[in-house]
Amino acid sequence: MRTEEPRAVLLKDYAPPAYLIDTVSLEVELDPAATRVHSKLKMRTNPASGGGPLVLDGEKLTLHEVRLNGETLSPNAYQVDGRHLTIPDLPAGEFTLETVTTCGPEANTALTGLYLSSGIYCTQCEAQGFRRITYYLDRPDAMAVFTTRIVADEKVAPVLLSNGNLVKEGKLASGKHFAEWHDPFPKPAYLFALVAGRLGHVEDKFVTKSGRKVTLRIFVEPGNEDRCAYALEALKRSMRWDEEAFGREYDLDIFMIVAVSSFNMGAMENKGLNVFNDKYILARPDTATDTDYASIEAIIAHEYFHNWTGNRVTCRDWFQLCLKEGLTVFRDQEFTSDMRSRAVKRIADVRLLRSHQFPEDQGPLAHPVRPDSYIEINNFYTATVYEKGAELCRMIHTLVGPKRFRKGMDLYFERHDGEAATVEDFLQALSDGAKIDLTQFKRWYSQSGTPEVLVSGRYDSARETYTLKMTQVCAATPGQPVKEPYHIPIAVGLVGPDGKDMALQLDGEEKPHAKTRVLNLTERTQTFRFRNVAEKPVPSLLRGFTAPVTLSSNLKERDYVFLMANDSDPFNRWEAAQRYASGLLIANVEAIRTGGKRRRGTAFAEMIRKVLADKKLDPDFAAQMILLPSEQAIAQMIGKDVDVDAIHEARETLRIAIAADVRDDLKRIYERMKVDGPYSPDAEDAGRRALRNACLGYLAFLPDGSGVEMAAAHFDGADNMTDQIAALGVLANIDVQERTRALETFYEQWKGDHLVMDKWLSIQATSSLPRALDDVKSLLHHPAFTIRNPNKVRALITSFATANQVRFHAADGAGYALVAEKVLELDALNPQVAARLLGAFKSWRQFDRKRRSLMSRQLERIAGAEGISRDVYEIASKTLA
Ligand code: PHE
Ligand code: ZN
Repeated sequence: MRTEEPRAVLLKDYAPPAYLIDTVSLEVELDPAATRVHSKLKMRTNPASGGGPLVLDGEKLTLHEVRLNGETLSPNAYQVDGRHLTIPDLPAGEFTLETVTTCGPEANTALTGLYLSSGIYCTQCEAQGFRRITYYLDRPDAMAVFTTRIVADEKVAPVLLSNGNLVKEGKLASGKHFAEWHDPFPKPAYLFALVAGRLGHVEDKFVTKSGRKVTLRIFVEPGNEDRCAYALEALKRSMRWDEEAFGREYDLDIFMIVAVSSFNMGAMENKGLNVFNDKYILARPDTATDTDYASIEAIIAHEYFHNWTGNRVTCRDWFQLCLKEGLTVFRDQEFTSDMRSRAVKRIADVRLLRSHQFPEDQGPLAHPVRPDSYIEINNFYTATVYEKGAELCRMIHTLVGPKRFRKGMDLYFERHDGEAATVEDFLQALSDGAKIDLTQFKRWYSQSGTPEVLVSGRYDSARETYTLKMTQVCAATPGQPVKEPYHIPIAVGLVGPDGKDMALQLDGEEKPHAKTRVLNLTERTQTFRFRNVAEKPVPSLLRGFTAPVTLSSNLKERDYVFLMANDSDPFNRWEAAQRYASGLLIANVEAIRTGGKRRRGTAFAEMIRKVLADKKLDPDFAAQMILLPSEQAIAQMIGKDVDVDAIHEARETLRIAIAADVRDDLKRIYERMKVDGPYSPDAEDAGRRALRNACLGYLAFLPDGSGVEMAAAHFDGADNMTDQIAALGVLANIDVQERTRALETFYEQWKGDHLVMDKWLSIQATSSLPRALDDVKSLLHHPAFTIRNPNKVRALITSFATANQVRFHAADGAGYALVAEKVLELDALNPQVAARLLGAFKSWRQFDRKRRSLMSRQLERIAGAEGISRDVYEIASKTLA
């Protein structure tokens, strides 16, 4: 047990720093065991709040010297403990503070601060990693101009990088050399970066709209240069798009990206020097899937967009994290929607929101988009801050429209460029610039939980009116027993019996306008009445998913069947199909449990037939339409006493029945969607492959076994990773010889490629075959796995725990025990990644009694373990609370 409870940090305790740092000069002499950092800070008392003792953050540092205005301080002039360096007496006004410290990158397994990734020195400072490099005011509102001199052995580290522009470089005695970088933009320490090592690079240039020439460079481990082309093109598209869509130009002479293989997250937006998980840079047709290409494009864009939303305007404190993350996710979503299919992107984003954010918001870890308390900030890089945060920006965008939104954003940049801002600043700028009152809307930032909207529609044929009565409720969440009503924008349409949208005329309006209207639900209950509705319509509710809510209505199964054939809103057309299929699956789960009769539900197969026959339909969208909801999605909808085995059985049976019903159509499209010519990752070809592989996903399970051959042939004939992995993924779920053969062939082909090996690991970990758990256990000892690399952990353990519902939740609790054991093992090495893995237990209360007790036992085991990190302690204790 821990001796003392870690203390929570509270939003309401925010106070500006007592001192300001104007400039920082760092000299970093790289050494694997003891890197020496000499830091020189030009500081002054903060006129706003100043004076008193100076408390600098610092962790895992060895302090060698402190100098004040050039004079070495005697050790009794300051105090050091494991977390701070405190200097009680300081001169009034300006002073220079120097420290000399050492840190050990080689021993740094937590991958925060300065560490070594396959022999490359690299840093990760967000959120609080800079304090592991030197003593500092490690908080985002402390902004300074950085100059960084890096010294290293030229053989070990021929390339030396930091933020900003290169100002000097040269050789030193005994095989050493140096480089000096200067970043003119004041920035918080979390945006600092340093990279050094043996690196190759590719280069390009970009001319900004005002004519500034920017050098673009992507650095990779030598040998990987041929996998950077797509990332580089995506970067240029991002730069152009931000100019056109938001009027934002790049501001330094050089923009650099470094790809590393050991990284806790996806990527990091350090000023002028983004550091990426190499999974989101490296791509070649034979090694990366269409999905990988799409993620690369999106993440390159995301990090690039941070240059304005995050870097030029940064966050005052970590409670404001959504200010940069939610907004930047919204921006990257819009970018992808412009580059690819908007409808498919929306479907993917809502899928992600429902699979990751909703469970978080409805479980023990629920927190507001702007939290008001945390124990460990690294635990708050969550789906709520990112994805729900983006939804809040999207709602404002929906409410005011694109032009006014842009005005609001322009004002935000104009007012806060160079500042550390708050959510209030953002809302004020949007409210002033876009001319909208966001007073009530602001509740979205402080109230946690997913609001539920209940809609009941009624047609009055005598009066020719259609009435929608809407009620919003939001269940209690930890620390928030009651909620005030939200401002919820709900786009609706009325679809007539002919399948066409009706023109909408609300009560009190002279004439109809628009066929989709955004209704403002601001009260607990509200009624909206449409006039001149000549025939009974079917309402299409929450078109485009205009608000992050769950919706229930009095629509019947036949209404969904109608909408999935007719809705002009592509999102809702997909949604109707999903609702129909979920309803069927949930009924069949119940039937399996009670021995009742199962339904075959031919309407879904009928819909598939129509979708496949529609030559005008975008294949990528068609692929989305024909997929069944996942087992996790069904579990989430059932919500309590979830029986994972019944869900698995119901879904498998339905999938086989559908395959049998429409096999000829599936086969026809499977043939027709074959892409000829050389591989291109563009959305069009990717869409064809997605549809073709979705067809294969059904056909492979035909009861006559003919699909297995087909999948094996697909595997053998694949000339790109998308097709190869699609076939392997299908075969991995079927207990046949072809499975073994394909896994072996794949291994032999790709054992030298660490990124492709991650796919090989996760396909086995997510296999629904009963052997999955034993396979995971043995793969833990396979040379392709190491617990020290976060990508390996995510590929093998996290994917088992979060994407293999039926096996992770094995009735005997063996899946839980394995994951809990790995959380503890990992915690000693990398608390951030361990705490994230532990998130797999967050929905434990929704399962049946036996599993609840097995899961809570593992959570208690972890919470009670000796010496666990703050990260894991916070997740374990809150999950159990
Ligand atoms: N700020 C990064 C992003 O979203 C995420 C990140 C957080 C990376 C913390 C590393 C550490 O773009
Ligand atoms: Zn981000």
